[in-house]
Amino acid sequence: MEEREISQAVIRRLPRYYRYLGELLENGMERISSNDLSKRMKVTASQIRQDLNNFGGFGQQGYGYNVKYLYTEIGKILGLEQDHNIIIIGAGNLGQALANYAAFESRGFILKGIFDVNPRLEGVTIRGVPIRMMDEINSFVKNNEVEIAVLTIPKDKALEVADRLVENGVRAIWNFAHTDLNLPDHIIVENVHLSESLMQLSYNISRYKEEHRK
Ligand code: NAI
Repeated sequence: MEEREISQAVIRRLPRYYRYLGELLENGMERISSNDLSKRMKVTASQIRQDLNNFGGFGQQGYGYNVKYLYTEIGKILGLEQDHNIIIIGAGNLGQALANYAAFESRGFILKGIFDVNPRLEGVTIRGVPIRMMDEINSFVKNNEVEIAVLTIPKDKALEVADRLVENGVRAIWNFAHTDLNLPDHIIVENVHLSESLMQLSYNISRYKEEHRK
């Protein structure tokens, strides 16, 4: 497939296509029209066509999309056909909740290690993965080909820890700490802030109330 610069807006929609197509596949569906997919996903058919045209379309006139093919191709675009080794830094409430989420592995995100500074957590295991202390982190990252680090630590520690991870070869950070990390350009950072999603929800509730008052 030809390499093209694809907008981040499109990339952000791909996981949702991937999830829907995965469900269709589980239900034994072999093909789907963009209209049918559009109804299910509540996205316009033209949006779907435009999005998928970025990757050469995949669709055939009069046939629609081959579900398995489209699912596989989107998976490749998202880099899901290869495994990614991940570690979690900060085994508190959020870190442990994420570590307990087994579905990561089914998408190829392999939880290799969990780290913390609290000695009371040392050796506690989550889904068979022991919590280790931060003094092991440098060698662990190097020896386990860790690609992604999940940061679930207090925000005032996040940058210092991220710098250390990067120095040891981590290439991407999934950042839950409420701070923007200023890291070298080649390091990929994805910030996740549940509160932003909640504020979006709050906005939509307010808008709904506003509209129904009229
Ligand atoms: P927590 O206090 O339960 O866990 C934090 C853990 O980090 C503790 O176990 C602590 O010992 C460990 N820690 C502290 N300094 C460390 C260091 N230098 N290296 C390694 N581990 C270290 O807190 P919780 O509720 O799990 O939240 C964790 C972080 O995630 C906080 O910064 C919080 O604000 C943030 N958060 C973000 C959300 C989001 O949507 N982005 C949602 C919830 C929490």
